[in-house]
Amino acid sequence: MAKTHGPTDIKESALELIGNTPLLALDRIWPGPGRILAKCEFMNPGASIKDRSSLSMIQRALTSGKLAPKAPIVEVTSGNQGCGLAVVAAIMGHPLTLTMSAGNSPQRAAMMRALGANVMLAPQVEGKPGNVTLADVTEAENLGLKLVADTGAYYVDQFNNDDNSKAHEETTGPEIWRQTGGRVDAFLATVGTAGTFAGVSRYLKRKDRDIHCCVVEPAGAEVIKGDPITKPLHLLQGSGYGKVPSLFKFDTMDSTLGVSDEEAVHYKDLLGSKEGLYLGYTSGANVAACVKLLQSGKLPKDAWVVTLLNDTGLKYPADN
Ligand SMILES: Cc1ncc(COP(=O)(O)O)c(C=O)c1O
Repeated sequence: MAKTHGPTDIKESALELIGNTPLLALDRIWPGPGRILAKCEFMNPGASIKDRSSLSMIQRALTSGKLAPKAPIVEVTSGNQGCGLAVVAAIMGHPLTLTMSAGNSPQRAAMMRALGANVMLAPQVEGKPGNVTLADVTEAENLGLKLVADTGAYYVDQFNNDDNSKAHEETTGPEIWRQTGGRVDAFLATVGTAGTFAGVSRYLKRKDRDIHCCVVEPAGAEVIKGDPITKPLHLLQGSGYGKVPSLFKFDTMDSTLGVSDEEAVHYKDLLGSKEGLYLGYTSGANVAACVKLLQSGKLPKDAWVVTLLNDTGLKYPADN
């Protein structure tokens, strides 16, 4: 007699592990009134929020014909976009070269290499290990652009690529709306390329103009707020580059909040000890900002505040 089997539940590749992350209530850090709800972006296969934009930018470049199947790709990264692109490139069979400032954590370079990418480190010109400035990023960018000019490889260009924010408008935003049953009082996010903030806030504002959308910036490098930069070095790697990114649009922003390194570290530690989650600095900053906004009196007392847990703590040196 032929064996019978039940229905299967098998993902066909790591690409199917991208997105659809759980929304977690941080009730131990913030017992109420109100709630902090956080998207678990560290659960993506590249272990960060940037897997979503990686998949979106590569898929659309293939669809439009700008990128040929299996053709070489180059990108400049602080590590997380690189890890996301390396996941996508491994599955889709593209050779990938990533340039990164040597000031970003060696854990990120190790992960990108393990995923099959060729990683080239640009020397730091201004910051120090763990603190990467705009000048350092520009150095990595110049290295990437030279490679593109020399080889003709496809340049992803996350800072100027609309398909970056589209990923969040089409996936992260709708997931938040569905997972909260349409009950969102506020949304908060740090800004690197602004893909996340721009895409999610655009979607949420379309659903309900009154959702309060707040940008989280490193204290002393609050350029979106419009303040002069007094502290370019900060721990929020992957965000706060000291320049308003071209994907950022002010029309979906209601306010900004500054978070110090100490506050980000405090909430990063609380995420570990109270919520059982080992995460990076921008996750700590996002949660610190949620607490500030809930304490500000600007929202209803029982407000549901949504943010993102951007990446895993394993991507950072332990003493930093
Ligand atoms: C750890 C971390 N947090 C936040 C961000 C910001 O994301 P976005 O580039 O979508 O603004 C990044 C971007 O690389 C990141 O690496």
